[in-house]
Amino acid sequence: MASNVQESMTNQEVVDKNKEYSLFSWSAQASVNPIPVSTAKGIHFWDMEGKRYMDFSSQLMNVNVGHGHPKIIEAIQKQAEELQFVFPGMASKVRGEAAEMLASITPAGLKKSFFSLGGAEAVENAMKMARLYTGRQKVITRYRSFHGAGFGSMSAGGDPRRLANEPGVPWIVRIQDPYSYRSPIYRHCTPEQGDMILVDLLEETIEMEGPNNVAAVLLEGYNGSSGLIAPSTAKYWHRVRELCDRYGIVLIVDEVMSGFGRTGKWFGIDNYGISPDIMAMAKGLTCGYVPMGATIVNEKIGKHFDNNQLWCGLTYSSYPIGCAAALACMKVYQEENLIENAAKMGKVLEAGLRKLQEKHVCVGDVRGIGLFWLMELVKNRETKEPMNGFNKPVSEPMAKVAARLKELGMSTFVRWDWVFAVPPLCITEEQLNEGLAIMDDALSLADPYCS
Ligand SMILES: Cc1ncc(COP(=O)(O)O)c(C=O)c1O
Repeated sequence: MASNVQESMTNQEVVDKNKEYSLFSWSAQASVNPIPVSTAKGIHFWDMEGKRYMDFSSQLMNVNVGHGHPKIIEAIQKQAEELQFVFPGMASKVRGEAAEMLASITPAGLKKSFFSLGGAEAVENAMKMARLYTGRQKVITRYRSFHGAGFGSMSAGGDPRRLANEPGVPWIVRIQDPYSYRSPIYRHCTPEQGDMILVDLLEETIEMEGPNNVAAVLLEGYNGSSGLIAPSTAKYWHRVRELCDRYGIVLIVDEVMSGFGRTGKWFGIDNYGISPDIMAMAKGLTCGYVPMGATIVNEKIGKHFDNNQLWCGLTYSSYPIGCAAALACMKVYQEENLIENAAKMGKVLEAGLRKLQEKHVCVGDVRGIGLFWLMELVKNRETKEPMNGFNKPVSEPMAKVAARLKELGMSTFVRWDWVFAVPPLCITEEQLNEGLAIMDDALSLADPYCS
């Protein structure tokens, strides 16, 4: 079904002009083959010629409320008419309201927000604040993580995209990941035991780096684009919290991708029952209606900056239109019970993906939470030989799966060995089943590559 199709330009014309005059992220430009999008509504979008796609990645895992939500559009329009901009040194009604609501939905103890324009800025300001607060330098992060593409945030993430930016900032120290499906740490023990070894190793890393040099431990609340690699026990997080307290280290949790209902709770970390000292947010904060990020700090860190300069600033920090969009989004999550729906539909999605695993030999692992899932494809379930391989060019079977998904009208992320399923939180059971049927078809193309 076509919706608001713009007749004036063809798919090819739009793509050609985009490629002629603009640069696409993370790609050799000649290889880019974007879908030209004309309009979007709910969990769907349409290309210029009326082909409909299910948005099974919520774009960049950020359009959590779905596309074209009238309440958010109205809030932005109203704010633009009333007051479109004041510089961050001024106060506005909507800034206070958005920050107050954020304090009410984030884990206990978090109170004051510094607004920015996206995830990288939210993380960079979090690291800056932790360094200013502690007077220490180093930040410990995970290898399999992504924290943004600024110079500091890029170094903080262990994702191999950082390798083009090496050596990056010198004060990042990386630790191993709770990748129970593949990490050698888990080869001879249970997932729970492996988690505990990792925390022991974190403590050893702190000792080796000198506790008085470590400003922060920075972890995703629920790991995202690096493969949804999360510990299997809440004890991991409780022990990390305890270590940070013991050594006077600030615990920064990056909720840029896992926040705002994605995991079936407001924030990924809410699944583990601890509070960080600082939290970084973006994406689902405004769901792409306008750009916005936020770094929220606990009362103690907030008070530190009462009498110590906060060396952070951006022209667009706390801009009223962003604050209005954030406030409207947070209200939509609440009023439309989207977080409850994510938890409920997450169970349907998990069950469907596990059925696909039973049916298709190429599916080695299925993991995730809420509406945040992926399938990891293998050539052999016993040996776990990867279908593609970490940081390798796209293999033939993965290319076939991706092409088939697209052909059947599904847009989602296919990265290395992973096929992501991360739809908007407003999705229904019927729509999920439609998406699972498309995945079922596409996976058939990878099965023949298995031994
Ligand atoms: C966990 C996490 N942190 C930070 C970022 C960076 O956000 P942005 O692209 O808005 O700078 C991302 C982006 O995917 C992310 O997933």
